[in-house]
Amino acid sequence: MNQAEFKRRRQQLMKMVGKGSIALVSSSSQQVRNRDVDYPFRQDSDFLYLTGFNEPDALLVLVPGRKHGEYILFCREKDPEQETWHGRRAGQQGAIEHYGADDSFPIDDIDDILPGLLEGRQKVFHFMGRYPEFDQHLMSWVSQIKAQSRSGAHVPYEYVSLDHLVHDMRLYKSKAEIRLMKKAAKISITAHKRAMQQCQPGKYEYMIAAEYNHEFSLNNAQHAYPPIVGAGENGCILHYTENSDQLKDGDLLLIDAGCEVEGYASDITRTFPVNGRYSAAQRDIYEVVLQAQKAAISKVRPGNHWNDPHDAAVRTITKGLLELKILKGTLAKLVKDGAYRRFYMHRTGHWLGLDVHDVGDYKVGDQWRLLEPGMVLTVEPGIYIAGDSKGVHRKWWNIGIRIEDDVLVTRDGHEVLTAGLPSAIDEVEALMAS
Ligand code: GLY
Ligand code: MN
Ligand code: MN
Repeated sequence: MNQAEFKRRRQQLMKMVGKGSIALVSSSSQQVRNRDVDYPFRQDSDFLYLTGFNEPDALLVLVPGRKHGEYILFCREKDPEQETWHGRRAGQQGAIEHYGADDSFPIDDIDDILPGLLEGRQKVFHFMGRYPEFDQHLMSWVSQIKAQSRSGAHVPYEYVSLDHLVHDMRLYKSKAEIRLMKKAAKISITAHKRAMQQCQPGKYEYMIAAEYNHEFSLNNAQHAYPPIVGAGENGCILHYTENSDQLKDGDLLLIDAGCEVEGYASDITRTFPVNGRYSAAQRDIYEVVLQAQKAAISKVRPGNHWNDPHDAAVRTITKGLLELKILKGTLAKLVKDGAYRRFYMHRTGHWLGLDVHDVGDYKVGDQWRLLEPGMVLTVEPGIYIAGDSKGVHRKWWNIGIRIEDDVLVTRDGHEVLTAGLPSAIDEVEALMAS
């Protein structure tokens, strides 16, 4: 992503917050994993969206109309000793030269500098409640100004959440963002193909997970979320991440895994037979899920609303379960009563972007949001029939199937960003045999 795009985003945001305001966006900080070991650092998605700056302990400050610079970046100082141990830092000069800041100060000096920037502004925009410690700092800076009000200091009097403004911007993906999402999709597709080809009875779920680790690392991509590699009954546990069991002949393997590139996620699920051939019962359920996904994807186009794909998936799944005699009754009543929820207990998708469950409102007022070009969503229907399901023939037990693709809304319909990965039964079987 080039710097010009980050600059455009900051300018757009400054226009929205308006003169007389100040916007503050904190980076995330290092998180302890155990004792003195940290988790790999992942930048706060909103901070990343507005800066492209990938260090912890930083603060973006936007002051529209400020004479001496509207964009100020607080960040860690250069420190040769710390950098020898923990890695490079941009420092204040780097923040200005490489990240387009008009001005930059050491984060350690923030208590001395920020009250001066807040003073005289009417509105403060920030991600209220995101980092409670930051909110406390903000209140202490404001208190400092209040203490000087008798000498004429003006205290900000309106505090506004930034969530809505930034998250609405993030919902509409630019060309550069779509390019990154396509790159992430391509890497994830290759990983899923590797998994299908490496899958055999007797291997363990973690061995198949290793194919994703390999392919993602090879491309300098990271997991966008913990991969779900669930065989047999584990496929019916929606957020199964132990990935520890052995793959058995005759079972299905459900894999939900996707990487992120420069923070932009892909999110793909495929379900395939451990031994390379779907059984008759598995085929029956798989076809229902696949048809539900097709019906849902066909509803992704400008002018349709957020829930149209879900409604289409629900209808197709209910009809399929009725035809297979897993549900009994009439289609209209089963849909109305939500009878499908016993076997399809999640929704058909979510926004996708810098976060796997990306930001952006799903409703405007009490109406579902209309789909518009540039939005990206997942379409991921599933059917999960746990073992010992009462009233369900045992031939269906332990069949858990989800098919998930990433879909961009285009001007005249949609583009499936993950279409390069087969989902039709004969194509999956052919790939597994190759
Ligand atoms: N991988 C998370 C999801 O599908 O929502
Ligand atoms: Mn998903
Ligand atoms: Mn997923």
